[in-house]
Amino acid sequence: MYYSKNLPELSIVIPTYNEKENIVTLIDKLFSIFSLNRIKGEIIIVDDNSPDGTGLLVERLRKKYRYLKIIHRKEKMGLSSAILAGFKIAKGNILGAMDADMSHPPEAIPIMLNEIKNGADFVIGSRYIKGGKIIGWPFYRKLISKGATFLAKIFTKVRDPMSGFFLIKSKCLEGRNINPKGFKICLELLVKANYKSVKEVPITFTDRQLGKSKLNLKEYYYYLSNLGSYMLYKKIIKKFVKFCIVGAFGTLLNIAVLYVLTEKLYIFYMISAVFAFVVALTSNFILNKIWTFGEKLSERTLYKYSKFFIISILALFVNLIVLYILVEYFQIWYIFSQVLAILISSIVNFFGNAIWTFKGDKK
Ligand code: GDD
Ligand code: MN
Repeated sequence: MYYSKNLPELSIVIPTYNEKENIVTLIDKLFSIFSLNRIKGEIIIVDDNSPDGTGLLVERLRKKYRYLKIIHRKEKMGLSSAILAGFKIAKGNILGAMDADMSHPPEAIPIMLNEIKNGADFVIGSRYIKGGKIIGWPFYRKLISKGATFLAKIFTKVRDPMSGFFLIKSKCLEGRNINPKGFKICLELLVKANYKSVKEVPITFTDRQLGKSKLNLKEYYYYLSNLGSYMLYKKIIKKFVKFCIVGAFGTLLNIAVLYVLTEKLYIFYMISAVFAFVVALTSNFILNKIWTFGEKLSERTLYKYSKFFIISILALFVNLIVLYILVEYFQIWYIFSQVLAILISSIVNFFGNAIWTFKGDKK
């Protein structure tokens, strides 16, 4: 074969559990794409002792393809761990993962590989950028996927971090401690791998025609628990504490301005609250930019200030609505109401700004 002397450059890992209807078609298709595009590729199947005989089927196919490998594991150990097992024995300096069920279009691989050659470290087959789409998923599955993607926004600016289809340079994984639990290996790598540029390529995801999905409730639990650990890993909690300290200072400032304007200048407390908000906002922006998110003040300051402002207007709405309800319906003293209202609106504020304003600038 054309790359017989050399090692493969690309290793595609495909986890399988009961995929006998799909796996042969996919392997044939991949190798034909490799040779058409002169890609030095190997395929590594990681089979968890599929009761339907997927492993045996692949063993037989190995006679036909020299660059087909298979890892047989004793029992079903999960999708992410299967991919990591495949990466371990991979010879290519570019690693890839895709599902066995024909959901991910093999034709996208040359395009994705091109992006790596053009300098990307990490390339994701994305359903959620322009040109990408999903075919065949019921509404509830789309909704869950969107919800899970939204929750991941705090950790990555990538539009489809839930994708199971990606390429990454192997050097990005060196020395990294990757958690094998769960389904969402792409997000795990986005959080923990060592990469500089990440690029999304639009793909059409087509739900499987044959066989059954292996996604179950346990995977939702793993996902949420992984998100919790990313909070610690990415120091989100530490940032939130800093954000709260800044916010507490802003609150004092806010209340001082509110008090002076209302009591000394006889301005209606709702109007005073707006002024108090703007003063505190500016102080909060500067302190958060420098201290909480560790940026230089000069870095795209006006642009970020406007984003910070927009999120803060949203938080102000929350603030005013809560303030109004507490004062008018619960007859709570407006100063105390304001403290509660600021507390609630700062949660909206933190996540809004961490996701939107300061996103992606710090890894
Ligand atoms: N070895 C092994 N062990 N393989 C597994 C296991 C396991 O425990 N669980 C699942 N697989 C394999 C399946 O055989 C298939 O090749 C692939 O992992 C994906 O499993 P599906 O059951 O088809 O998952 P899905 O279609 O619901 O979800 C996929 O697509 C989503 C959207 O891109 C996954 O790739 C998700 O991670 C992804 O978010
Ligand atoms: Mn699938």
